[in-house]
Amino acid sequence: MYTLKFERGPDRLTLLDQTLLPSRERYIELTSAEQVREAIASLRVRGAPAIGVAAAYGLCLAALRGEDVDAAARTLLSARPTAVSLALALERCRAAENAEAMVTAARGLEEEEEAACRAIGRAGLPLLAPGMGVLTVCNAGALATCGIGTALAPLYTANEMGYKLKVYCCETRPLLQGARLTAFELLRSGADVTLICDAAAAGVMAAGRAGAVFAGADRVAANGDTANKVGTLPLAICARHYNVPLYICAPRSAFDPGCADGRGIAVEERDGGEITDLWFARPAAPRGVKTFNPAFDITPARLIAAFITEAGVIWPNGGGGYGFGR
Ligand code: MRU
Repeated sequence: MYTLKFERGPDRLTLLDQTLLPSRERYIELTSAEQVREAIASLRVRGAPAIGVAAAYGLCLAALRGEDVDAAARTLLSARPTAVSLALALERCRAAENAEAMVTAARGLEEEEEAACRAIGRAGLPLLAPGMGVLTVCNAGALATCGIGTALAPLYTANEMGYKLKVYCCETRPLLQGARLTAFELLRSGADVTLICDAAAAGVMAAGRAGAVFAGADRVAANGDTANKVGTLPLAICARHYNVPLYICAPRSAFDPGCADGRGIAVEERDGGEITDLWFARPAAPRGVKTFNPAFDITPARLIAAFITEAGVIWPNGGGGYGFGR
């Protein structure tokens, strides 16, 4: 199973359609930037690193077809606002001199993201112990990246060494990335995974079942404030209350040194139908109810015990904050 693959002759980006998981494993072939935009906006491909790499290949498709690359970049950038990896990937590919150089740049980006996952896995290993309980949210695993994931990378690395971690996976409403994707890929790996409702996470911590929370990031501001899937903030507040460390696992592509703090991060608001209907056959809420459906929330830096990056673990400075600015 793979998240995405770019191939030439005919030029195409093949994606695992994540909206169909876990019931169906179906790959779709995309041949235009517009198709890639649609796939990102509708979460067929999701997770910050995978979004960035998919967008890079979307731009390559436009360039290889001789289309207006600037217009394609604007289209792709409009797909989702929160993950900074999307803008960074497009910026990097646009700097290429021609279509072939753009493909080389996109492949380089994919390889870097894959290597970053492995490095995050190694860096996070000392924060785990055999048999430990770990809580995670959304999907920051293989399906969200081009490698073994970010938040799940230390867990996969540890389990490969025989740690037998007990992973608690928040279902992650509204679109159930935890239930549909994280539980799916962890089960496949042979991990000991327990699916919980989001509302059960506090109780899991209160009972001492989770020794740490591992989460990913869509954008990390210069002061360490972090945007991640909605529901991360309540986990962080509970984790602080119960003295459980919350680790944010993030590659370089998630850091936005130009953004001073969380107030500068655009939080995507998605269709209320995701709350009222999800993908159920029958509505889960009365017709006409008002909805508020932010896809992400911002966890203040002071609630983050450390960042696990490809460059190692970054602990807060003496004042309890972080300095990721330029
Ligand atoms: O809406 P999604 O599924 O794209 O949200 C994904 C997350 O919030 C992930 O935790 C984040 O992108 C990090 S993925 C390695």
